[in-house]
Amino acid sequence: MGTVIRAKNVSKQYRLGKVGTGTLSHDLNRWWHRIRGKEDPYLKIGESNDRTAKGGSEYVWALRDINFDIEQGATIGIIGRNGAGKSTLLKILSRTTAPTTGSIKVRGRVASLLEVGTGFHPELSGRENTYLNGAILGMTQKEISRKFDEIVDFAGVERYIDTPVKRYSSGMYVRLAFAVAAHLESEILIVDEVLAVGDAEFQEKCIGKMGSLRNTDGRTILFVSHNIPVINKLCDKSILLEKGLITHFGDTRSTIEMYLKNHNSQVEKNINNLELCRKYNSGELYITKVEIFNNRNDNSINFGEQLVLVIEVNYLRQLNELAFDAFIKNDTDVGVAQAFIRIENENITDEERHFRYKVTINNTLKPGKYYLDIGIHRFINGNTIDNLENCLTFTVLNFESNGDVILPHFLDFRLGYNLLSCSCEVLGKKGAPPNL
Ligand SMILES: Nc1ncnc2c1ncn2[C@@H]1O[C@H](COP(=O)(O)OP(=O)(O)O)[C@@H](O)[C@H]1O
Ligand SMILES: [Mg+2]
Repeated sequence: MGTVIRAKNVSKQYRLGKVGTGTLSHDLNRWWHRIRGKEDPYLKIGESNDRTAKGGSEYVWALRDINFDIEQGATIGIIGRNGAGKSTLLKILSRTTAPTTGSIKVRGRVASLLEVGTGFHPELSGRENTYLNGAILGMTQKEISRKFDEIVDFAGVERYIDTPVKRYSSGMYVRLAFAVAAHLESEILIVDEVLAVGDAEFQEKCIGKMGSLRNTDGRTILFVSHNIPVINKLCDKSILLEKGLITHFGDTRSTIEMYLKNHNSQVEKNINNLELCRKYNSGELYITKVEIFNNRNDNSINFGEQLVLVIEVNYLRQLNELAFDAFIKNDTDVGVAQAFIRIENENITDEERHFRYKVTINNTLKPGKYYLDIGIHRFINGNTIDNLENCLTFTVLNFESNGDVILPHFLDFRLGYNLLSCSCEVLGKKGAPPNL
């Protein structure tokens, strides 16, 4: 036993406008943000790592004054909102980027699966990348060969193992990257949220693998995830990052409690204030209102009852091929369902550019409290035009039932949550209101 990672007064400052683009792993990240209905992180760079504040400086502190020790064999979860600095911390620990101030001491070899830059070379094949990664970890050819079949088998990419990884789908890429990081010899395994790109079945497999690395190999694991139940299951201790600061480092239970408490109070404060919920806007249209439409006035619906939203949109110019996206999260901020519907091409004129839509979503959600993100994207590529995070909360009421209820949902294994069917109709249109 003993300390294997020590961070002392670590801070990281980024200069705005210096985000690189063009690699496959960026695309992975984009894809993830897209299916989550989040802003594309490479379209706009937050000015402060507090994404809710409008900063004016050219620099951003992604991490500030980070101090911690991690014991050998510990499994540490890292949680925090988007932009809190989680990925930056993992990049510093795996020496993909250097801290601006402070120092990091790491004892042992680090295998990492990062959000950006998984250590794969796009032109090399899966096989070549596996050997390259092994060599970087100081393993001999023979040692790598001994693990090779297991890696390929775990990743399920045998047919493509001699294909350059740039031709891999996002899912294949992540599967191989995880298999390499988990199977090659290292003392420390670092895994960023990128895992969420894989399908639900593969996620389960990875979590199982991490569990066994922890229990039988005594490997030290650092794991970022948005998925609170998984963090809870896997991690002994967890770090809560908020706006670049460690606000809590303790047993996982207390860290999660604090995260949810802060998260939910923040979310509740912003609800119904669209400006505070707006995480991205391209300047082409604005969602000006989101409401639940039913005959109760408490934002509750019955189990099985359709969720009907009234959404008002103010177009600033002609836009075609759009889609609404409703992303539904439970009260632990885990995405549970998504509804996606194409918007008919409207003819936008000065007299008619404020549209009222009725979006009807077939609800197969279990009773409970939910939070909603609403986005409008380009249908073709998923690029976000307007995105409101946690703009509405609703409750699915308990149902009367004595037997088991079978939820008639279509579980999308690729996404790991339900896709709900929905429809969209125009309720009315008029000229722009004077305030826009
Ligand atoms: N390469 C970069 N250049 C500029 N800013 C960056 C870069 N990477 C991250 N940031 C900024 O640093 C902050 C923390 O980002 P990140 O570590 O990715 O957060 P998380 O992983 O918790 O979502 C954010 O405000 C983000 O915009
Ligand atoms: Mg991240």
